[in-house]
Amino acid sequence: MIDVYISGPVELNIIIQVIYLLNIFLKFIKLFPPEFSHVLALRCLDIAYKTGLLKLLFPQPKTTNVNFVGMKLSNKLGTAAGLDKNGDYIDCLGALGFGFLEIGTVTPLPQSGNKKPRVFRVRDELAIINRLGFNNKGVDYLVKNLKQKKYKGIVGVNIGANKQSKEKNRIEDYLICIRKVHKFADYITVNISSPNTKNLRDLHSSKNMDELIEKINIEIKKLKISIPIFIKVSPDETKETLKYLVDKIINSSLEGVIATNTTVDKTLLKQKKYHAYNGGVSGSPLHNKSNEAVSYIRSLSQTIPIIGVGGVLTRNDYESKINAGANVVQIYSGLIINGPSIILNILKKNKRAS
Ligand SMILES: Cc1cc2nc3c(=O)[nH]c(=O)nc-3n(C[C@H](O)[C@H](O)[C@H](O)COP(=O)(O)O)c2cc1C
Repeated sequence: MIDVYISGPVELNIIIQVIYLLNIFLKFIKLFPPEFSHVLALRCLDIAYKTGLLKLLFPQPKTTNVNFVGMKLSNKLGTAAGLDKNGDYIDCLGALGFGFLEIGTVTPLPQSGNKKPRVFRVRDELAIINRLGFNNKGVDYLVKNLKQKKYKGIVGVNIGANKQSKEKNRIEDYLICIRKVHKFADYITVNISSPNTKNLRDLHSSKNMDELIEKINIEIKKLKISIPIFIKVSPDETKETLKYLVDKIINSSLEGVIATNTTVDKTLLKQKKYHAYNGGVSGSPLHNKSNEAVSYIRSLSQTIPIIGVGGVLTRNDYESKINAGANVVQIYSGLIINGPSIILNILKKNKRAS
């Protein structure tokens, strides 16, 4: 049965029935190939939002006003990047009751990403492998959506580099995106950790990181940017690399870290047939690895703001992410695997989510 958190005396039975049917429908959607299901599910949510049905199906959890680096979040649970790459679904995702949203990854120019199929479900291990490769409609399209959104909550924008941009142009891509989005976003995430754009993770090297952070610093000062900027890291980096990055962030105008992106370590999957798949693993098998990165970063600094993400599918997973040192938490695979009821299941009764 589905747990529901309802703030007022409404027709509880009807709502439970409708949610039950909706969950059956969402299971039916999962019979399609993953990428198609994803778009279909978001379109259905959007229709439910526009027709007013969403409000009835998913009553908003009580707003608890969490202050995170100066941003007022309605709770500590947000969406992770990749779910809504172009900002097409801000209003309907916001209406599900998340405390904040992160849209993107967006790149300066539109690009179609890698060849399909490029998303794979590993059902019995509660995992997803993806090698999408930053498919998106470009930063100008996303900014247009930001200008039109009705959602009043916090929206961060995750930015990346175009596939064809190499070395210096790659860093310039981040700067282009920062210049275009900073007036319309509540925070920005510099994504250097996608495993699906060739050599992108090289930006974790000390030389590249020095240059990237220095250039972003200059941009922050030049444009007088006051919104927080985070760097999203890979769970596959060494402690030495993470320490270098954290020290750099602490001594810069950047705000904090998002830990982590997907892992390329397929050995976390029990079924050997998936070990040869290219792409990043998310969902349950990522949980411990991602938490280790969060704990390590927290051990380096008690004060650095950390958005924890990776393998949160239950309330316990959420709790353990906070216990590892995350200030707030994001989910992606958990929402795909468990459906929107995961939000209420985490927020319900959960004092630490508020
Ligand atoms: C299909 C898919 C697409 C993703 N796209 C992006 C992306 O565009 N940018 C990004 O920073 N992370 C992306 N991610 C990574 C998620 O934001 C998140 O860091 C990762 O999946 C771990 O969280 P989870 O276990 O809750 O899914 C993607 C993940 C998935 C499964």
